[in-house]
Amino acid sequence: MFFLAESIGFVFISIDSNNSRRDYFNPLGPSALKFGASFAWNLHPREGENAMGALATAVRIRHDLHSRLINARARTDEVFRVVREEAMYDRPIPERHRIIFYVGHVEAFDWNLLAQRAFGLRSFQRTFDHLFAFGIDPVDGGLPSDTPADWPSREEVERYNRRLREELDHAIEHALERPEEGHPQLISMLEVAIEHRLMHAETLAYMLHRLPSGRKIGGLEKAALKAHRVKSHLVEIPFGTATLGLQRIHDDEFGWDNEFEAHEVQVNEFAIENYNVTNHDFLRFIQAGGYENRSLWSEEAWNWKAKEGIEHPMFWRREGNLWTYRTMFGEIRLPLEWPVYVSHAEATAYAKWLGRRLPTEAQFHRAAYGTPDGMRERSYPWGEEGPGPTKGNFDFKSWDPSPVGAHPAGASAFSVHDLVGNGWEWTRTEFASFPGFTSMPFYPGYSANFFDGKHYVMKGGSPRTAACMLRRSFRNWFQPHYPYVYATFRCVED
Ligand SMILES: [Fe+2]
Repeated sequence: MFFLAESIGFVFISIDSNNSRRDYFNPLGPSALKFGASFAWNLHPREGENAMGALATAVRIRHDLHSRLINARARTDEVFRVVREEAMYDRPIPERHRIIFYVGHVEAFDWNLLAQRAFGLRSFQRTFDHLFAFGIDPVDGGLPSDTPADWPSREEVERYNRRLREELDHAIEHALERPEEGHPQLISMLEVAIEHRLMHAETLAYMLHRLPSGRKIGGLEKAALKAHRVKSHLVEIPFGTATLGLQRIHDDEFGWDNEFEAHEVQVNEFAIENYNVTNHDFLRFIQAGGYENRSLWSEEAWNWKAKEGIEHPMFWRREGNLWTYRTMFGEIRLPLEWPVYVSHAEATAYAKWLGRRLPTEAQFHRAAYGTPDGMRERSYPWGEEGPGPTKGNFDFKSWDPSPVGAHPAGASAFSVHDLVGNGWEWTRTEFASFPGFTSMPFYPGYSANFFDGKHYVMKGGSPRTAACMLRRSFRNWFQPHYPYVYATFRCVED
């Protein structure tokens, strides 16, 4: 669906679709914001904790929230610093907005979410609130046609952003000092603002990956870890239970609507590859004619591949007999030990070529969080300890993947490697609601717009995924033909 709106001098095109995911995240416009229904975040004292202890925890969490918002801003600021000034109005992905839109969007989102409803602040530049409110996601080849001249100057946008941050920071500080007087949903709203921004920090990296190196500031990263070739094998995972989702009542952890309600799933015995499919593995598929083998592709995937002329992963380039790889800041020889980043359609074809399949979401959970003794499931593949640099390539550690198996300390109880970090993992599970799903009242389309059978769940995380979104219940999703995501895969036999 297309909307074309004139908003005082700037052409604003918003395309509302539920057909492909997603370098954009939108709140409803300010007029539609409506809080009030309960949301996932709770400040429940843990069992055995006294009232004073609970109060101290609540104060600490509130303080942390503002610090986390400020840190999240540093992440999006860091991404925009990669862009040379003359490239700020470029459009690296044809289906997406120009970069300048996102400079305003990550701020306008916070403003539209919080200012009026949480703090009663009056808009100081309504035109920009609307201009930067909505991303675009066209379908059926309908590409945006705006020009750089349709957008305000960088200076105007930065002035808007500065004032917006000042006003919000002042209001947040004030509100967190007197929580009893503040909006009852403030904590949930701040969590949404933080994670929305961190998701953009990641999806902006996908976008800037497509920007030519000469338009970016930053040198090639040195290979941080010496590459060693590992040999993948299948690991048997016995029949057992996987707990998907997050408990709404007793967990003190934030979750998006699609993470609720927690529920158990029985998973039959299956076998899973202990390492991700590498560029080396995938090269064999290409050399075996995998892209020309009609029987490996669904009709839809075949047509997409033909229409787009896709003959290899989007991150690769062929130069005669040599393959090169497009890293964030330049081209290198194809790093054979890195996990291959491909679309869901390409991953599915590869698995079929081997007579295997992509895992289901529940199988991923079993391999990642289950234990051979069938005892309590883990919070992370490696155990209960929070995400740290030895456990995987995530939390903005790198702009690019590391070799598979380079973080053995992050392996799961079944010795399956890199399940969290180094690239999202495609599953064959269509993105859908869990039993007990309810939309967030202030953001009803966040997940529900994508429950259409055309999107697949991804689990795990990439080098650019923030630590807070590595929680077990977090679910990512994309349509099967979007080739820019930092997504890899592994296969199962079941
Ligand atoms: Fe957004």
